[in-house]
Formats: sequence, structure tokens, C-alpha cells
Amino acid sequence: MPGMLQESMTPKIIAILGSPIPDGNTARLLNRAVQGAEDAGCVVERVDVSSLRFRPCMEIFQCLHIDECAIEDDVTPYYRKFREMDGLIVAAPVMTMGIPGALKSFMDRFQVFFNAKYMRRRPLVSSEHKKRRRTLFISIGGMDIENDFDCSVTSMKAFCDIIDCPYWGDVLQNNMDAIKDIATRPDVMQAAYEKARTMCTLIRNDMPGAPRGPPAGGRSER
Ligand SMILES: Cc1cc2nc3c(=O)[nH]c(=O)nc-3n(C[C@H](O)[C@H](O)[C@H](O)COP(=O)(O)O)c2cc1C
Repeated sequence: MPGMLQESMTPKIIAILGSPIPDGNTARLLNRAVQGAEDAGCVVERVDVSSLRFRPCMEIFQCLHIDECAIEDDVTPYYRKFREMDGLIVAAPVMTMGIPGALKSFMDRFQVFFNAKYMRRRPLVSSEHKKRRRTLFISIGGMDIENDFDCSVTSMKAFCDIIDCPYWGDVLQNNMDAIKDIATRPDVMQAAYEKARTMCTLIRNDMPGAPRGPPAGGRSER
């Protein structure tokens, strides 16, 4: 069945919007990244975290014992989707020097993955699958300060480790209070597109049975 084979070889990417504004600057950068991922031959499922109805982690700790969260809500389908995906793109503004609360609460719910990996020593993602998984982090901040992204990047790297989707790269732009409209910075828009396309080409090249080819742009990034 060539169609089915084709489908299984097509990398699945999840693109998360962590801003509550569906057409803001963060969303526009995510749109460019999604375009890059699609141009690299991936299928992309987009999720706007602010449209999900869910609770934060309540420390019930059922996931210490089994691979399932005790809470059933809009996060529940993402446990399976996060196991199956081949790559992740997360776009979020800086809020109070870190990840916006709704997105952070979404990330905290992946303690299910943490306990499986570190407590029961039975990761939810196989080592073979992990080899091709990668994450791109896109973030903007209003302030013109050097350490604007320190907390967000640290948090995102921890999350990537927990879900076994390694932090591959980022596009970070501070000083948005002065820039105001990200469309006035085509270099940043282009970086979102190019990094997503490169990452997703690497993922596609690592899919089982994929014909070997150079990464987009001939770069040697892993
Ligand atoms: C609640 C809140 C907290 C914020 N905290 C910070 C901050 O600590 N540092 C910073 O650089 N920008 C901060 N900002 C500014 C946003 O990061 C900035 O306006 C960004 O461009 C918003 O992107 P968006 O419109 O796509 O959501 C904050 C904005 C909000 C709404």
C-alpha cells in the first residue's frame, strides 16, 4: 500500500501557541514556522493552549504508578499525540520573566512522562524514536534586557528532556515593546521559517526508510 507507507513516513509535528492572542506577534512567528515545517514535507497539528479547558497538575501522583494522568480533560489526547509526534514547535511570549501560565500548566501535566522515564524507568518514547525527535522554541519579549529568555529557555529545555523531544534550537527576540510589529523584522520572520524547515528536514531524513539527503540549506546542524 504505497499510500499508507507514504503516510507513515510523513513526520508529524505539533505546533503549540502559548500566547492568548491568536493573531499577535507570537502567532505570526508560529505561522511562519508552520509554513517551514510543511515545506519540509511534514504534517503539522496546531494547538492554541489558551483554547483548551484543563486543570493544572494537582499532584495526585497516579502517574507514579501508571502511564495515565488521573485528570481527564482537554490535555488527555495530547499524551498519545506527544508520544507519536516526531517534532515539536513551541511559540510563546515572555510573561513575568518566564513561560506564560497557561502554557506552563500544560507543560506541567507531562509529569506523566517524567514519572514513567525517571521513576519507573520505562520511558513513553522509545530510544529509536527519540533519535529523530527535535523541538524548536520561538519566543518574544517586550523588554530590552539581556536575560529576558533565561527562565523560559531553562523551563523549555527541562520540558524537552521530560518528553524526550530534545531541544534543537530557538528563535528569540526581545525588545518587542519598541519593535511593536514583528512584520517590521523580516529577518526574525525568516529565521522562524528557516529554522523550522531545517529542523523538519532533519526529522524527515531520520524517518525509517527515508532516502538519505542533505539537510535544507546544506547545513550540518543536528
Ligand atoms: C502578563 C504579561 C507579562 C509580561 N511579562 C514580560 C516580561 O517579564 N518580560 C518581557 O520582556 N516582556 C513581558 N511581557 C511582554 C510580552 O512578552 C510582549 O508584549 C510580547 O510581544 C507579547 O506577544 P503576543 O502579543 O504575541 O502575545 C509581558 C506581557 C504580559 C501580557
